Amino acid sequence: MTTKLKLAWAIWAAWTPALLAATPADIDRRIDGLLQRMTLEEKLGQMSQSTSMNTPLSDEIRDQIRKGRWGSFLNAGSAADRAEAQRIARKESRLGIPLIFGRDVIHGYQTVFPIPLGQSASWDPALIEQAARVAAQEASAVGIHWTFAPMLDIARDPRWGRIAESLGEDPYLAGVLGSAMVRGFQGKSLDARDSIAACAKHYVGYGAAEGGRDYNTTWIPELLLRNVYLRPFQAVKDAGVATFMSGFNDLNGIPASGDVFTLRDVLRNEWKFDGMVVSDYNSITEMINHGYAADASDAAFEGVRAGVDMEMVSTAYYDHLKSLVDARKVDIKLIDESVRNILRLKFRMGLFDDGPSLAGAPALSALDVARKVAAGSCVLLKNDGGTLPLLNSIGKVAVIGPLADSPVDQMGTWTLDGRREDVRTPLMALRERLGETRVLRAAGLNTSRDMSHDGFSAALEAARASDAVLLFLGEEANLSGEARARAFLDLPGAQEALVEEVAKAGKPTIAIIMAGRPLTFHNVASKVNAILYAWHPGAMGGPAIADLLFGDAAPKGRLSVTFPRTVGQVPLYYDHMSTGRPPSPSTLGIPAGSPLDPKDYTSRYIDIDYTPEYPFGFGLTYTSFEYSSLRLSQPGMTADGSLTVSADIVNNGSREGDEVVQLYTRQLVGSVTRPVRELRAFQRVHLRAGEKKTVEFTLRARDLAFYNERMKLAVEPGAFQVWIAPDAARGVEGGFRVTASL
Ligand code: BGC
Repeated sequence: MTTKLKLAWAIWAAWTPALLAATPADIDRRIDGLLQRMTLEEKLGQMSQSTSMNTPLSDEIRDQIRKGRWGSFLNAGSAADRAEAQRIARKESRLGIPLIFGRDVIHGYQTVFPIPLGQSASWDPALIEQAARVAAQEASAVGIHWTFAPMLDIARDPRWGRIAESLGEDPYLAGVLGSAMVRGFQGKSLDARDSIAACAKHYVGYGAAEGGRDYNTTWIPELLLRNVYLRPFQAVKDAGVATFMSGFNDLNGIPASGDVFTLRDVLRNEWKFDGMVVSDYNSITEMINHGYAADASDAAFEGVRAGVDMEMVSTAYYDHLKSLVDARKVDIKLIDESVRNILRLKFRMGLFDDGPSLAGAPALSALDVARKVAAGSCVLLKNDGGTLPLLNSIGKVAVIGPLADSPVDQMGTWTLDGRREDVRTPLMALRERLGETRVLRAAGLNTSRDMSHDGFSAALEAARASDAVLLFLGEEANLSGEARARAFLDLPGAQEALVEEVAKAGKPTIAIIMAGRPLTFHNVASKVNAILYAWHPGAMGGPAIADLLFGDAAPKGRLSVTFPRTVGQVPLYYDHMSTGRPPSPSTLGIPAGSPLDPKDYTSRYIDIDYTPEYPFGFGLTYTSFEYSSLRLSQPGMTADGSLTVSADIVNNGSREGDEVVQLYTRQLVGSVTRPVRELRAFQRVHLRAGEKKTVEFTLRARDLAFYNERMKLAVEPGAFQVWIAPDAARGVEGGFRVTASL
């Protein structure tokens, strides 16, 4: 191609989707036309999503696509298969309706970013948006149209393996960060060649599984559902998420995939969602196991009645909806409505349009973004006496622990397509930085679950010969994620014993913990000088961690979940209610009184502090900040008004650094009880050593609204506490009143 031709092509490729962009009315007209011509079988085909497309495309699948048997495939085929399947659907099926290909692109496609829980610890929407953008570019380049992310399940239980895939425990933070992911995946418009549709999952309540056991029962009163669990979903709906996925869980006695209340009343009627709803994997027919549907026909009936448009994997819709329609048990209008939602998505994504279906090469430098996100996700939990950062002039470092050099484990859960060869482990990065001879490697344990002490003496020897010990601890990837609930949260295998052994060397010791959840490591914490929590940091975890250890970058992550002291405290989350007998800090973990002289009947434990090991929002960096002088622009506001809250933050350390300044409120009295604190906003500020800044937030009264006992969203007049804070347990405090609107 000549340069001129290339230029013309680039302009055409960039502008065509915009020029051809159909209006909603055009789309509706085209859907009406199709609905009139479609047979009931073709409609049910659109409502069916299959995993059965393998490589190479079988004649049977080709034939099925020609006949319109499937509307979508998930996690299936190669890029070439997808292109060929799409060609058949468009050119050889009766009505030319395209397929939509879905895949679990959860934290990166080929370039693996930190697990979502790690990303949420960055408290950095721009960074998260960039990571999702890279993932969308890589996935769309091979014909993937749709990802099953973000997962917005509020996770208050670290035993639940899928906490790894969550954006933490706070509904506001999850909503802000989930919306950033949606923007990243969906790009400027859904029909851009490098956009993929996002999916808000698992609607709703899945994270509240009893005992943290995956797929388990959830009981969530409507008040809690509306004030906590639904909020991040509504936020991403408002951010334009294209699809929703209904959950596996039984919610208040009704499986989430058959729940008319959440799926129709709330999602469609209240929120006016006009995108598409897909079930989870077999969650339609699992209603039989739940004891809610008698058989597959009944399950199809319940699913379509609730408004699940597309059935993932199981085939109850295709097998039974025709007889149900013929028998007038299911109104054809319900089927048409679902097919309309599916076709609308396909039109919005430009899948009906011919032209190059694959995006070009990714524009962003994927590994650079992965390195930035990994560094931004790490949380410094302890740093006694400025152990970190290490000096580049340090002599030798001992690199101990099973996770210093385990590419697969550092990628974490959900990495179907992660390019293992891209992964840079901490050991690789440290050798590169310091040279082979300054890095003394002794794994100590082969895997995180290894119980053998055979490697301990070599580890101690390496520690003794070093100037600092870097201990890479945690849990391997396979211990978190779907169906990976744990009853214990401590470091698995003989890791605690390894720490004790290595501590005998008496060298400055830094624990770097890689995990898919908050772990409990109280004993370890007292034996090391510094702790960096790195989650499963993805492909560039190694260089990112090395950057942080040597101070090329400073840790700037903050916890998006509360870390308990022990599994027995779970669930433990910061935005809890008060109780009638709140505990007092003076009684931390001490059995009070005696049987004859009983004391302290408060809500606490007698064998451990009731407080967490590390609170929500917590994270250190290489400098420190002091908060003072909380000020309010006025003593109160009306229910439709706003005020500003500000405080002074000073960097009183000797290095520059980032602080994530958090705004919390508490309504002291409500028509229903209110949490002891709720995050309302946050801001990242960068301060030079010694610098002081005034950080200001605008707080609108409507941000304080909550659902009351009549399930009405309202701002209730009354007194509030307000904090500008470094985490959910501290901060400078003030108060204001909200009065009724005039
Ligand atoms: C998970 C979903 C996922 C789906 C498709 C299910 O088991 O719960 O989150 O998107 O599988 O792979």
